[in-house]
Amino acid sequence: MERLQKILQRAGVASRRKAEEMILEGRVQVNGEIVTALGTKASFSDEIIVDGKKLKVEDKVYYVLYKPEGYVSTTKDEFNRLTVSDLIPVKERVFPIGRLDYDTSGVLLFTNDGDFANALMHPTGVVEKEYSVKISGLFRKESSKLLERGVDLGDFHTQPAKIFNVEYDKQKQNTILSIVITEGKYHQVKRMFDMVGHKVLKLKRERYGCVTLKGMNKGDYRPLKIHEVKKLWNLSINI
Ligand code: URA
Repeated sequence: MERLQKILQRAGVASRRKAEEMILEGRVQVNGEIVTALGTKASFSDEIIVDGKKLKVEDKVYYVLYKPEGYVSTTKDEFNRLTVSDLIPVKERVFPIGRLDYDTSGVLLFTNDGDFANALMHPTGVVEKEYSVKISGLFRKESSKLLERGVDLGDFHTQPAKIFNVEYDKQKQNTILSIVITEGKYHQVKRMFDMVGHKVLKLKRERYGCVTLKGMNKGDYRPLKIHEVKKLWNLSINI
């Protein structure tokens, strides 16, 4: 017997946290009864129904999507905007690992493996995420040093970042550069540049750990190779 949220996570329904929300929302039935208590235990031999669908144990799968701008990174959107799930029509019930903003493009990983997602999304994450960024104004060395050392964003202090490939467009008065960060807090890159007086005009995630967009066009997805999954496991913190 295991906690219901753990079973849902293992079956690839959602991350453990999301599964807890689903239970509290009354979306989960065990042997014909709606269960809303988080401590409830069950086993795979029980009949578990989520959103009207019977739970099946699926193989673990891992994908990368080249997310285009103009899609939200949730599975459902309250404003009926297009979601990243519309772009990855696979038979397994996969969910995105973390988020990219509506107007951000680039690498977005998907899985039905809750343990893998949790390890990669651990708050003290160590997996590098590389972004190419276009910002307003001409970026100064001092600002670069500040961001590289880590800045206080009010609710948290950013870990050291790396900034490189800085190119100025003096005519348009903007700068294009690359930044590598290890955390993935909400709007983190935008907030970091905002902190030093620059507006992010364009943002693209070029790399997540060892996974890049090589050979992919916007909207494409592909399964991760086994060595990529193993490498990501090794890069993440096992919790
Ligand atoms: N940082 C942001 O501000 N937005 C993203 O989409 C990703 C990182």
